[in-house]
Amino acid sequence: MKKSEINKQYLKKIKLINNYNKFYFDKNKPVVSDKVYDDLKKEIITLENNHIFLSSKNSPSQAVGHRPSKIFKKASHKVPMLSLSNAFSEEDLINFEKKITNFLSKKEGFEILYSAEPKIDGISASLTYKNGNLVRGLSRGDGKEGEDITNNLITIKDIPKKILSKDFPEEIDIRGEVYIQNSDFEFLKDKFANPRNAASGSLRQKNPEDTKKIPLNFIAYTFGFANDLKVENQSGYLKKLKEWGFKINPLNKLISGVKNLINNYHDIEKKRADLDFDIDGIVYKVNDFVLQKRLGNVANAPRWAIAHKFSSNKAVSQIKDIEIQIGRTGALTPVAKIKPINIGGVQVSNATLHNEDEIIRKDIRIGDTVTVERAGDVIPHVISVDISKRKNTSKKFIFPKKCPCGYETIKDFNKITKKFDAVRRCPDRGFECKRIAKEKLKHFVSKEAFNIDGFGKKIVEKFWELNLIKLPQDIFKLDYGKIEKLDGWGKLSADNLRYSVDEKKQISLERFIYSLGIRHIGLENAKLLARYFGSFQKLKNLPKKNNYNDLLNIDGIGDTQLVSIKNFFSKDINLKILSELDKVLNIKNARLVNTRGLLKDKSFLVTGKLNNISRAEVKSLIEENSGTTVSSVSKKLNYLISGEKPTKKKIESAKALKIKIINQDEFLKMLNKTS
Ligand code: IVH
Repeated sequence: MKKSEINKQYLKKIKLINNYNKFYFDKNKPVVSDKVYDDLKKEIITLENNHIFLSSKNSPSQAVGHRPSKIFKKASHKVPMLSLSNAFSEEDLINFEKKITNFLSKKEGFEILYSAEPKIDGISASLTYKNGNLVRGLSRGDGKEGEDITNNLITIKDIPKKILSKDFPEEIDIRGEVYIQNSDFEFLKDKFANPRNAASGSLRQKNPEDTKKIPLNFIAYTFGFANDLKVENQSGYLKKLKEWGFKINPLNKLISGVKNLINNYHDIEKKRADLDFDIDGIVYKVNDFVLQKRLGNVANAPRWAIAHKFSSNKAVSQIKDIEIQIGRTGALTPVAKIKPINIGGVQVSNATLHNEDEIIRKDIRIGDTVTVERAGDVIPHVISVDISKRKNTSKKFIFPKKCPCGYETIKDFNKITKKFDAVRRCPDRGFECKRIAKEKLKHFVSKEAFNIDGFGKKIVEKFWELNLIKLPQDIFKLDYGKIEKLDGWGKLSADNLRYSVDEKKQISLERFIYSLGIRHIGLENAKLLARYFGSFQKLKNLPKKNNYNDLLNIDGIGDTQLVSIKNFFSKDINLKILSELDKVLNIKNARLVNTRGLLKDKSFLVTGKLNNISRAEVKSLIEENSGTTVSSVSKKLNYLISGEKPTKKKIESAKALKIKIINQDEFLKMLNKTS
């Protein structure tokens, strides 16, 4: 299936679920059973997990972005619920303090005492108590008006329903954060990206009984309207909250001076992974209520408080274990299993340690406190170790010398660099090593290989665990009846998968060769081999004919590739795979290439959009006519084909190098064609 088609189906499902939501939440009249609803939701989340390009703000995975449902009545906050400005650096904090001192017209050096409170990443709520009774609970909403979620909030055990203390104000809005503990999130992590989304989802259930199912907690930290509150500062207020029966953050502290704020920030950042609640920074509040009052607010944030946020792509955690994962080529990759930590909204529990040499170089050990980075879509990795946190009982990590399949591992010697590889690997046993086989299956279905839609790495893992697939041919003989019944599947998903698999039974020889995952045979070499063999039968006959050395005549195939190809064909299991695949697939012959075509010795590069012809088609037209394509403008380039909205830089460099710039028609004319 094409990307656009998957996206279309995905959006269709989202539209459908939002329609169900409308009936369920707004009209209070569900049109489908919970099972049908849940299955659809799981299908959407499975699709998102398998295709990173899918995203929609209306997706059920984005629970936080939900439109306020009409089932909850709206109500005004007597005192608005403000937000906080953010600080990201020491400099930001210095400025924050400077502004306060200036505003209060104090001299530099005036000591300000702050209440430093870890900022729980949950959902804020405002609880109104009258004469000691909880009478109403509102969500933040837009700060001025919230949703009346009293019935859901009263299911939370941390929220006192009645307070008898004598000094409890006659009327007060107690404000704080509703959150879910990390340990409870463990059971929900397939459904939500992070604990905050899970808490939000639970809090907005129509039925409070459903809210009860996901254990929510409440920590109090401020107040809105208050009548007769006899406290003078934030720390006094926090103390009172505790006396009245609320939970407060055990890590709250009173601190003065930016340097001390920074030290506390780093201390807490290191403890983050040990906490059972997610925090995304520290809130600093001027402790004195008189000063708070004088400072007042700017727009919708107080001048007397700021949130010092943690980096959104780095976090400190602890290594619980080091696991060795086996890659498709047998490479042993050490992976740190870390205490789950939220990095930029994503719960991270694995971080790559790259290879054996990296572990030795950084002396990374189990139990170590480490900084983990998650940048963009790359796998999170350990960037440094905090040796000061290491216990003296800690031991060096000994990298296993054996693959989990039992084989001794090796380190290749690189003849060019005259060094041993940093990577240790299980010798290339291909599908014979079960662990490698699983990785080979992931390669087999991947984008440049069979490109089976909806058949991502996670599905390979799952089907492999369930013994549904062990070798490539199993993919084409799946038991869809069984799949339909799996958790999170259903008939629609199973049918979609069957469709995607069947669609790929016809494949070009070059893609087929590439998908076998023979070491050192990437896309380019697969293409060369496909052209050389022409048909699958000729490829299959290679071991019978035993004419391996002829492959060296192919420009681009050398000793390394030859050894690897021989190794592949020397294994009975591989020969069996080839003959089984032959039975279920239609492998198309390679097109013969013309080496004396019209574009012989000419190189091309396309910039901008062409009319009614894709880049891929232009590329194959060029290659069919003995031309070549290059990826950048250089002296080697003969023609730059310029379409609509070409890249300026490419045109300029081509002009500078006096390279011929042609349009689509001129290009087609070279082939005696017209568009
Ligand atoms: S005080 C005017 N204290 O942070 C004061 N907020 O961006 C505003 N939060 O919506 C709230 N921990 O959800 C305050 N100790 C804490 C907090 C805290 C978490 C959240 C709260 C608020 C957001 C402000």
